[in-house]
Amino acid sequence: MSHFFTSSVGKKFILSITGIFLMLFLIVHLSVNSLLMVGSDAFNSAAHFMTTNTVVQILEPILALGFLVHIIFSAYITWQNQRLRPVRYKRINRWGSTTWPSRNMFILGGLILIFLVIHLSNFWWQVKFGELDQVEAHGAMVHDLYALVASLFIEKWWYDVLYILGALFLGLHLSHGFWAAFQSLGWSNDLWRRRLKRVAYAFAVIMGVGFASIPVYFLVTAA
Ligand code: HEM
Repeated sequence: MSHFFTSSVGKKFILSITGIFLMLFLIVHLSVNSLLMVGSDAFNSAAHFMTTNTVVQILEPILALGFLVHIIFSAYITWQNQRLRPVRYKRINRWGSTTWPSRNMFILGGLILIFLVIHLSNFWWQVKFGELDQVEAHGAMVHDLYALVASLFIEKWWYDVLYILGALFLGLHLSHGFWAAFQSLGWSNDLWRRRLKRVAYAFAVIMGVGFASIPVYFLVTAA
């Protein structure tokens, strides 16, 4: 069994499973964040649920572990590939095509990680250790996370640029990562490859445009 995790199939399997888990998180995260464009009550109530619900609390360390394992295994695979093939070569996949994201997955992942560290200090850290105002939303007293997000995007334009870039890097990473994950899990025949590529591009665009539209929304409505 321990052999499996060090074999190249095993490492790809772990990378795929953690990648799919992180994509599920992104769907939930974007859904909740979209409520920022509905209004403060809707978003604050949903954020309150996400920060107090027991199941979500249990999932939080699992999510952190998912990120950690995904980063460690991607670094390990990249390092091994470079060590085995020190001379750079044009990486062409088995169907004879190569895309810019597929050749730069590790760099894109690194840029997303830098974004993530800044992003967690902006919001997650403030929720856990900061002092947020309390407001009433749908009859309950909750943290005013909406005001925190709105003030960041309205008062500090460079964060809008950073979040739009973060969404772009994420979209590019997913445009390859989505179908590569399923391909590594065995869905690699011709028909599925074509289908998965289409779904991958749609998913990447929804995530990229979805996350980028939030800072854009605050910029436009505050103008
Ligand atoms: C406009 C874009 C985004 C906004 C407005 C946003 C907003 C937020 C907020 C308000 C929180 C704190 C919620 C809490 O602690 O419960 C949070 C947490 C988090 N965000 Fe984002 N986010 C955005 C994009 C992203 C992206 C692109 C990623 C991943 C690449 C991401 C990953 C995370 C993670 C991992 C957490 C911590 C989750 C937890 O432990 O509860 N976010 N985000």
